[in-house]
Amino acid sequence: MSTFALSIEQMPNRFFNGQSSPLFSAEIASAVRAFHRRIPGYQATPLCSLDGLARKLGLGKILVKDESYRFGLNAFKVLGGSYAIGQSITRKLGIPLESFSFDNLNGHEPITFATATDGNHGRGVAWAAMKLGQQAVVYMPKGAAQERVDNIRRLGAECIVTDLNYDDAVRLACQQADENGWLMVQDTAWAGYTEIPTWIMQGYTTMADEAVEQMQAMGIERPTHTILQAGVGAMAGGVVGYLANRFGADRFTAITAEPHQANCIYRSGCSDDGSAINVPGDLDTMMVGLACGEPNPLGWEVLRNCCRHFLSVEDRTAALGMRIQASPMKGDQAIISGESGAIGVGMLYAIACHPDSESIMNSLGLDHHSVVLLFNTEGDTDPVNYQDVVWEGKYGIGSSQSQYS
Ligand SMILES: Cc1ncc(COP(=O)(O)O)c(C=O)c1O
Repeated sequence: MSTFALSIEQMPNRFFNGQSSPLFSAEIASAVRAFHRRIPGYQATPLCSLDGLARKLGLGKILVKDESYRFGLNAFKVLGGSYAIGQSITRKLGIPLESFSFDNLNGHEPITFATATDGNHGRGVAWAAMKLGQQAVVYMPKGAAQERVDNIRRLGAECIVTDLNYDDAVRLACQQADENGWLMVQDTAWAGYTEIPTWIMQGYTTMADEAVEQMQAMGIERPTHTILQAGVGAMAGGVVGYLANRFGADRFTAITAEPHQANCIYRSGCSDDGSAINVPGDLDTMMVGLACGEPNPLGWEVLRNCCRHFLSVEDRTAALGMRIQASPMKGDQAIISGESGAIGVGMLYAIACHPDSESIMNSLGLDHHSVVLLFNTEGDTDPVNYQDVVWEGKYGIGSSQSQYS
């Protein structure tokens, strides 16, 4: 293994108090999982054990939950959108969640769902709307990849590419939803808008619940570490919330990972008083799913209480993770891991190759006993960029950082 120094910013969490949230209790997680099981086509996604890579990096186990298989949508996000839509509709109709099915909206007043997205969440909302025979209007930030736009339009949704960044696209979607009487299904929260984002975060507990069940079937009780990529921090918050309730927050080390250009969780962790800090501007990172500058306050609360470390890395880290998973160690399974899915594997390798590897490993408590749980949250959702990176070497280790200085 060569030595090279990708930029890694690390902040231990000074606000950790280990307080778990009742919003992610075992009972709620099991009701959420039961909801997802009732969706036609539901299947637990694979949990891959990359044993060759773990040996090479001096770790006990690296387990990757491969969400590229989720409902054929190439990303995990539909878990949140579908659950929030199920909850919203059943409350509106006054029926129990258990009786919800994706065809019981016939004969009811039509609903238009609205959202803003970097791609995956909007695709999930459009998919759920299509299954229900309803409309969806999806706003995207500037520079959205054509394939991500097309995937949303193919589901029958209206997709509008704005000239705004992600956070401003959310505000525009919200304003349009208000004016037009649409139901806003957003994966981030703000004052007065917390119920749907809570359901969305709860929706993500399904992948953590599946992962724990799959680990236990391998004879592993729990992860010692989990690295969770964060955009607004809803996914990380949902997963950490689940694990903290299940095992206790002081029995595993949760680490968030973000691109430097959109590291709002890391910056919040660096704040004097633990308050949420926004990152303004273009948020111009290859990890488009993580290009969010304003923390979800519900997610941030869980992460501030229960995470151990906040990390921020450069785009080449994700590119490294994409290539390693596409071309794995002999005996390890290949995984198609997209930009925002690959940051965990890339980070572990970047740490192992770093000139300060030993001290970074020590500070994170990583060693040959560690069982590290990662989530490949997306496959090749932008196939053009995926091939540029994996086949043609874009964002190679020897290249300049190009997008970040
Ligand atoms: C593939 C992928 N991974 C991770 C995330 C981060 O999720 P969150 O915004 O809840 O932090 C996203 C968000 O869109 C995503 O699309």
